[in-house]
Order: sequence, then structure tokens, then C-alpha cells
Amino acid sequence: MNLVLMGLPGAGKGTQAERIVEKYGIPHISTGDMFRAAMKEGTELGLKAKSFMDAGALVPDEVTIGIVRERLSKLDCQDGFLLDGFPRTVAQAEALEGILEALGKKIDYVINVEVDKDILMARLTGRRICKSCGATYHLVFNPPAAEGKCDRCGGELYQRADDNEETVQNRLDVNLKQTEPLLDFYRQKGYLKDINGQQEIGKVFEDIDQLLKGLNE
Ligand code: AP5
Repeated sequence: MNLVLMGLPGAGKGTQAERIVEKYGIPHISTGDMFRAAMKEGTELGLKAKSFMDAGALVPDEVTIGIVRERLSKLDCQDGFLLDGFPRTVAQAEALEGILEALGKKIDYVINVEVDKDILMARLTGRRICKSCGATYHLVFNPPAAEGKCDRCGGELYQRADDNEETVQNRLDVNLKQTEPLLDFYRQKGYLKDINGQQEIGKVFEDIDQLLKGLNE
């Protein structure tokens, strides 16, 4: 099961990825998570990514493509993977085709989580994430049972540095520009599956699950 999860910032990629990897046992490869981990560790990659992420801009293609190439060649991707937040440009999508061809693999579906751009600001500025297990919440749309604490592991919840209004606006502007050509690229290849991301979280997953069950039959 080789999957790509697409959607504007805040569309619900991470939220749905948690559920997909739990059910289907494939590795979750989020370029955003990889950059944040590198920043926390203070590695060279983290230093390169930081200024772009802080500004809500895209990390340059050559850096991003390199880390995905390395990650996809790991043994745990042999039976499938879920790419989240990559590719984000046509150049990245073309590079991914080459990486997969060299590995003898092919994308099954590009799942495009569609949400009206006007609701994304509220989704992102209200998002909170668990410091320990990475589970995602929302102050209004998906609140934890106890304020500031993760339902799953009791960990402390925090707000991402790029979830402030100014940076969110930049992220949305940048991604809106890249999205249409990328959707066209995958539409032409016949991989694209649109999912209505403007439903309750569980219902969005049901729709994705329905699609994936077809792949497993
Ligand atoms: P990344 O970490 O990938 O962030 P993003 O694309 O901006 O997406 P988010 O993680 O913010 O949103 P999401 O769709 O996962 O939403 P979530 O499920 O959390 O990238 C960060 C940065 O890294 C980029 O800006 C860039 O600098 C760099 N980067 C990463 N990949 C790159 C690449 N390929 N090339 C270049 N640069 C790259 O949900 C959001 C909120 O909404 C949550 O609070 C959630 O609880 C809530 N929610 C979710 N679903 C629903 C629902 N159905 N109804 C109501 N609320 C919902």
C-alpha cells in the first residue's frame, strides 16, 4: 500500500495519518515531522529547515527530496508507506516518480483531503499537539478530555511555533500556489482520489478507509 496524503495546511493530513497507520501498519513519513525532529536535535538539516519553516515558506526541493529518498529506501517501507506533506511541488512529484521507479514501486493512491481554505486559519491556530506521543487535538473541534493533557498518554499539549496567525497565512498562500499544478499532475496519472475533509474526523476516516479496503481486496 503506497500512499500519498495531500491537502492544504490544516486539512487534516496528520489527523488522518494517525488513523491510517494504526489500522494498516505502514510507516508514516511526514516531511514536516522530520524537519521538526531535526530542528529539535540541532542537526545540519534542522538548521537548514528552520528559517523556511519559521517563515511559513517551503524548504528547498533539493533538501526535501534528499531526505525522502533516504527514508523510502529503508527496510520498513518495503510493504508500503504513507507520505504526508510530500510532494508539495511538481518538481518534488517528478522526483518521487524517479525514486519509486528505482525502488521498483508505484503509488497506489494520492488521497487529496479537500477543505475550504476559509476554515483553515481556525483549525491551525486552535491546534494543540502532545509533546510525548504527537497526538493532535483542537481546542474547539477535537478537545482533550482534560485541558492541556493528552487523552492517550497524559502528556503535555503544546502549540506549534508556526501555528500563529501570520505564519499560517504565509503557509496557506504558499501552498495554495503549489496545489493546483500538483493536483493536475496526479489527476493526469490517474492516482488522485478526492476525500471530503469537511466532515467530522471519524467520517473522513471512514471514507478513506472505504477506499483503502478496495486496495486490500
Ligand atoms: P507540515 O508539518 O507538513 O505542515 P502543514 O502541511 O502545514 O500541515 P499541518 O501539519 O499544519 O496540517 P494537517 O493537514 O496535518 O492538519 P492536522 O491533521 O494537524 O509542514 C510544516 C512546514 O515544513 C512547511 O510549512 C514547510 O516549511 C516544511 N515542509 C514540510 N513538507 C515540505 C515539503 N514537502 N516541501 C517543502 N517544505 C516542506 O489538523 C489541523 C487541526 O484541525 C487540528 O487541530 C485537528 O484536530 C483539526 N482537525 C483535523 N481534521 C478535522 C476535521 N475533520 N474537523 C474539524 N477539525 C479537524
